[in-house]
Amino acid sequence: MTRGGINMSTVLIVYHSKTGNTKQMAETVKEGVQSEGVKVVVKKANQVTLKDLLKADGIILGSPVYYGTMAGEMKALLDRSVQIHGKLEGKVGATFASGGGLGGGVETTALDMAKSLLIHGMIIQGDPWGSHYGAVSIGRPNAAAKKECRKLGEKVARLVKRLKAVS
Ligand SMILES: Cc1cc2nc3c(=O)[nH]c(=O)nc-3n(C[C@H](O)[C@H](O)[C@H](O)COP(=O)(O)O)c2cc1C
Repeated sequence: MTRGGINMSTVLIVYHSKTGNTKQMAETVKEGVQSEGVKVVVKKANQVTLKDLLKADGIILGSPVYYGTMAGEMKALLDRSVQIHGKLEGKVGATFASGGGLGGGVETTALDMAKSLLIHGMIIQGDPWGSHYGAVSIGRPNAAAKKECRKLGEKVARLVKRLKAVS
């Protein structure tokens, strides 16, 4: 809803990161969301409450690849979210992932998190041109990876605003 020039939508970015790569991606996704005038909250997965998830209009999950899938901290949050199963339906979702090497599982990790969001009934927008399933990076995000992260934030923010306008 936009009232008096103030957009009331909120996007929550949830990430896990040990050595900072995924954190840098999260910060760049945040810039993309903010550039669309949408409020953004960034939190580590183990600090996210179920109330945080319920309050957000869009939820973006980012994780390093650990053994071909998301970090345990992200999975633990998703497992906790069963307590609010059905209540995230219709929210916008997206994901991003950071891996150690090509073929190491960045895309499958992005998809693994996206599957959980789909099970929650959330709406996930793909990308026909860049990173199709979510933003990905190998090691420290370079300029190309950051561009995808920023675009992901912009796309989610735009979709959140469009859905808010018709609800
Ligand atoms: C326990 C563990 C398992 C990992 N498994 C994979 C893997 O299966 N594939 C891969 O590409 N990278 C793997 N990595 C590398 C990380 O995904 C990569 O270094 C990532 O950029 C770290 O993100 P961060 O800096 O946000 O912590 C693993 C790292 C750790 C610590």
